[in-house]
Amino acid sequence: MVNPFRNPESEFSLNARRGSKLVALRRINMEHVQQSRDNTDVLNTAMGEVLGLENNTNAKDKSRFQENSNDDSAVYTPSREEIKRTREELPVFRCRSQLLSLIRENQVVVIIGETGSGKTTQLAQYLHEDGYSDSRGKSIVVTQPRRVAAMSVAKRVAMEMQVPLGKEVGYSIRFEDMTDPEYTKLKFVTDGILLRETLMDDMLDKYSCIIIDEAHERSLNTDILLGFFKVLLARRRDLKLIITSATMNAKKFSTFFGNAPQFTIPGRTFPVQTIYTSNPVQDYVEAAVSQAVKIHLANDCSSGDILIFMTGQEDIETTYDTLREKFLQVYSKKFGTAKIEEIKDIEILPIYSALPADLQFKIFQDLHGTKRKIIIATNIAETSLTIKGIRYVIDCGYSKLKVYNPKIGLDSLAITPVSKANADQRSGRAGRTGPGMAYRLYTEDTFQEDMYIQTIPEIQRTNLSNTLLLLKSLNVTDELSKFPFIDKPPLQTFLSSLYELWFIGAMDNKGQLTSLGLKMAKLPLQPSLSKILLIAVQNGCSDEMLTIVSMLSVPQVFYRPKERQKEADVARNKFFIAKSDHLTLLNVFVQWRANKFSPHWCNKHFVQYKSLVRARDIRDQLLRILVSQNIPVVSSGKDWDIIKKCICSGFAHQAAKISGLRNYVHLKTGVGVQLHPTSALHGLGDLPPYVIYHELLMTSKEYICCVTSVDPFWLMEYGGLLYDIKRVKDNQESETKGLFGEHYGDVVDVAEDEIDVNIKKYRA
Ligand code: CDP
Ligand code: MG
Repeated sequence: MVNPFRNPESEFSLNARRGSKLVALRRINMEHVQQSRDNTDVLNTAMGEVLGLENNTNAKDKSRFQENSNDDSAVYTPSREEIKRTREELPVFRCRSQLLSLIRENQVVVIIGETGSGKTTQLAQYLHEDGYSDSRGKSIVVTQPRRVAAMSVAKRVAMEMQVPLGKEVGYSIRFEDMTDPEYTKLKFVTDGILLRETLMDDMLDKYSCIIIDEAHERSLNTDILLGFFKVLLARRRDLKLIITSATMNAKKFSTFFGNAPQFTIPGRTFPVQTIYTSNPVQDYVEAAVSQAVKIHLANDCSSGDILIFMTGQEDIETTYDTLREKFLQVYSKKFGTAKIEEIKDIEILPIYSALPADLQFKIFQDLHGTKRKIIIATNIAETSLTIKGIRYVIDCGYSKLKVYNPKIGLDSLAITPVSKANADQRSGRAGRTGPGMAYRLYTEDTFQEDMYIQTIPEIQRTNLSNTLLLLKSLNVTDELSKFPFIDKPPLQTFLSSLYELWFIGAMDNKGQLTSLGLKMAKLPLQPSLSKILLIAVQNGCSDEMLTIVSMLSVPQVFYRPKERQKEADVARNKFFIAKSDHLTLLNVFVQWRANKFSPHWCNKHFVQYKSLVRARDIRDQLLRILVSQNIPVVSSGKDWDIIKKCICSGFAHQAAKISGLRNYVHLKTGVGVQLHPTSALHGLGDLPPYVIYHELLMTSKEYICCVTSVDPFWLMEYGGLLYDIKRVKDNQESETKGLFGEHYGDVVDVAEDEIDVNIKKYRA
């Protein structure tokens, strides 16, 4: 078997895992967090990991787990009696009538319960059975911070109610609507979707009850929804709001809604023994694998399943490979065979957001003790998914978190130590079926001394430009700062997000939305992507830009199997055009379309078929939105420059300039950044002097991902508020203002290497 660490992508994830690097990383992250802490005193108030799966659509998605994804063996339909019995065995059932009368008597109720007590799957059904849905044509909506949870729970509830998914019970997540406006009475949606719905109907008239599930996670969208409801409830006296939460923080929600009653569902949990490592581990993937193997060999399969918490897709895939490799070694020693097929008593199951839904459902499969499930999950398995039969938990101690540094306006995903509350939540997963064991891959000292009590809510550590744009267009309060935030975002984050909106032209000097900003708010995209799409409309390349923004909204497009990496790289390089990863994505889509959207064509060219299908769906949806708003969709043919210039219009603040031969520095911050290993620009002999990027990834290094070369004059045109340009000739520098006049775009006879773009002095 090939060593998974030889893959360059795995290599940097490995680096990020190593103890020494992690210390450095942790310092950086904590600095960011510390900054937020300096800015507000309202901290340590929330619990929950917010990986924000919705925001994670760019998570890399290798198709290894997709290959046999048509196997739908996870779906099993029990009899009506069985369903009834299972439902009645849930802890929440015993308080059904108490809960319903509490809800009848109060507008807002906070419900607290252990994971698995039945909050998510049962509450909405109880309300439905109690007549909250049909009577006046109103329906019940349940929000989830995660896409996967919204889908899987809808599927479960449809099964329990014995109705087809998408009719009476449905789900809606960004770019995927499985509801029927006429028939759907129980709707499971991501919190982002409900927030968007408030744009269409700010009274949310079609709902009689809204359940904000997993509120303890404190996702950005949940926090905003709670603030929104604080205003709405006074206007909609008939609306019921139910907030469900894990044990912590319930009081905070209750206080926020004028001491709303709290109801705790009596739980049933078993003791969990926690085991720490005696020394810090060097590599948590290795440590997790060896722990899992030890557990499996020492305990009979029927003793229970293993749940491993990792940080994200990359770690999960490496763990998956390493586990297989380890078991292969162990079993070939034992049985004298080297065939992985011989490993019949374990089922290794990964679960993360970008994994196709049918494979995600496999984790719920009941193997009846004949095999041991080893589930490798992100923090999604902390509270949002209930998996039966887990007796052993292995916790790597980290998770991926979005961190924002408002001083320099950088948003990045970073591997960060979990909080104590998360660690305890993870351990608790082992005690659902019987007494369990939790192996923490860190020392007790680390837990006691280094970990935060609770995770800082997303609103205090993320860029808010998207949210502020939405709030502004919702007009909830006359001033954004007066919005009833459950925890206020740090002032600096607030200001720098407003600055970004102003910089890209969504807001004017008075803080009012511009007409561009209004149009941007109507698109379900981050502001920069909305902007490039709308600018492309003005410049006659909206057809191409539709494809580009859709391709940017799906998990990784290229497939790079370990055994055929060279071949895959050659195939990928064939798509490379115009010094641009963005245009390369466009090219892939265009060629796929020319080949009648063929799956075979994808296989041949090492392209992920499922990602492209999803991009096509997203494109269709966006197209429908444009058409409904009478926005023309036109093609620029092969004029790559106009497309690149339009991309620059939304990303001028995310620009980098060459430094040395193969490195870049971030133009705004002066920080050194590198091209991500997956960028097609690596194939160029000379790298372009100026580029913009789509995303910054912070692991052991700072990588810029999805990169396009740009003309420095475009940077001036769209980033003139930020940058100065100079002409550098014969070592003499001269200000270009007088030289080029106002219209930088008109200057064509100056070579790129004769000019130098820099951050404006007064900003630096
Ligand atoms: O929301 P809460 O954690 O309180 O519980 P839930 O998600 O409603 O789960 C109640 C029960 O339904 C658990 O025993 C789960 O195992 C089961 N369930 C399932 O089998 N499949 C799902 N997709 C969701 C829940
Ligand atoms: Mg739940």
